[in-house]
Amino acid sequence: MDIFRTKDISTIKEGAARQKLKKTLGATDLILLGIGCIIGTGIFVLTGVAAAQHAGPGIMLSFVLSGLACAFAALAYAELAAIVPIAGSAYTYSYAALGEIVAWIVGWNLVLEYSVGSSAVAAGWSGYVTGLLKAAGVELPKALTAVPAEGGVVNLPAIFISIFLSFLLVRGTKESASLNRVLVIVKLAAVFIFIALAGPKVNPANWSPLMPFGFGGVATGAALIFFAYIGFDAVATTAEECKNPNRDLPIGIIGSLVICTILYIVVSAVLTGVVSYTQLNNAEPVAYALRAIGYNFGSALVGTGAIAGITTVLLVLMYGQTRIFFAMSRDGLIPKGICAVHPTYGTPHIITVVAGIAVALIAGFTPIGVIAELTNIGTLFAFVLSAVGVLVLRRTKPEIPRPFRCPAVGVVAPLAVISCGYLMYNLPYETWVRFVIWTAIGFAVYFVYGHRNSVLGRYGNQLPNE
Ligand code: ALA
Repeated sequence: MDIFRTKDISTIKEGAARQKLKKTLGATDLILLGIGCIIGTGIFVLTGVAAAQHAGPGIMLSFVLSGLACAFAALAYAELAAIVPIAGSAYTYSYAALGEIVAWIVGWNLVLEYSVGSSAVAAGWSGYVTGLLKAAGVELPKALTAVPAEGGVVNLPAIFISIFLSFLLVRGTKESASLNRVLVIVKLAAVFIFIALAGPKVNPANWSPLMPFGFGGVATGAALIFFAYIGFDAVATTAEECKNPNRDLPIGIIGSLVICTILYIVVSAVLTGVVSYTQLNNAEPVAYALRAIGYNFGSALVGTGAIAGITTVLLVLMYGQTRIFFAMSRDGLIPKGICAVHPTYGTPHIITVVAGIAVALIAGFTPIGVIAELTNIGTLFAFVLSAVGVLVLRRTKPEIPRPFRCPAVGVVAPLAVISCGYLMYNLPYETWVRFVIWTAIGFAVYFVYGHRNSVLGRYGNQLPNE
């Protein structure tokens, strides 16, 4: 069936070679970039929500569970990223391995990861900004800082930051590797200051009971805080700009994941050790915990670092979305017109503004937990398909060079499928309903537009003359 037509890996590489991007990034840049994309709203906000509502102090174990799923997925992902070192991430890999329709559905679900994920990150940003302003004596009315489901009317700061960053992106503000380094250091400083100040104040009594909601609560917590790991795959989307993608991409992806996992486990242990998990269901739990133990200045410092860090994540996610849309329009699956490049700024302004408005509206009116869960299910699904893709490619194209081979692929790839599937299974029923509706819309769009306009469908694996 032609909906399962696959792209040749050589065609993908050749097509990308036509649009040369500068190759400037090395392994250290990638690890820093990874940390830049990963540490954000997840650890600074959702840890509190997940601990209070689901896992209790067992949130530490949730991070282990979720981290393990990411490690399996990352190993598989890294093999694909190294074989097909091209922008577009899981979308592009599935195009080579599993066929066009699967690629389309993966790309469609990456919209959940990048755009809907941006909304959750914007909501997290709003929590810290509102908290910091309040600590400085400027109290914004709840009606303007909370969504309707949380007793407000609209989350205005979240709308503001989403629109503001899309303007920056239209003007061509791409996060440079050097600015990213500075922001990553600020963000890591916030994490370390928190650990250094709060660590000595841990009262082990707060860790008991460890699992107040049982192991089920820990698993549900893991499914929610999976959000904190999202971003390690964004490293893979930079493949075209790496000096030595075959060696550096796997190092970048896995290295940043390992560092973040360790930090997350320590932060969540300290957080639930200094205050009771029951107090953590608020918009800025890390700053809150520091205030609760008397560190007002430290709290403001960490809050500021968190805001800087969360802003980076938001910028990267919003930028990443335009890259994926770009790859999809290059393949003819979405209209080229909406990815048109601005004559002066040289950026895809239309899609950037449209996506920015969508991110703002979702963030302005939807509770952060709901958005994060929808983001997670879409991302996990893309990871499941990527892991399947690795196995399929090993079978269908055993001869292609694999600069990085997933170790024990026969075990690791199925474990990635099982563990990511398990996290999906632990997401709420409502999230599944939203996911199924989103996917159904995706199929409809494919058959109405993408299938007819696909470049692969028209030209086969011959690249069209340009
Ligand atoms: N992992 C990113 C965050 O937690 C998306 O903000």
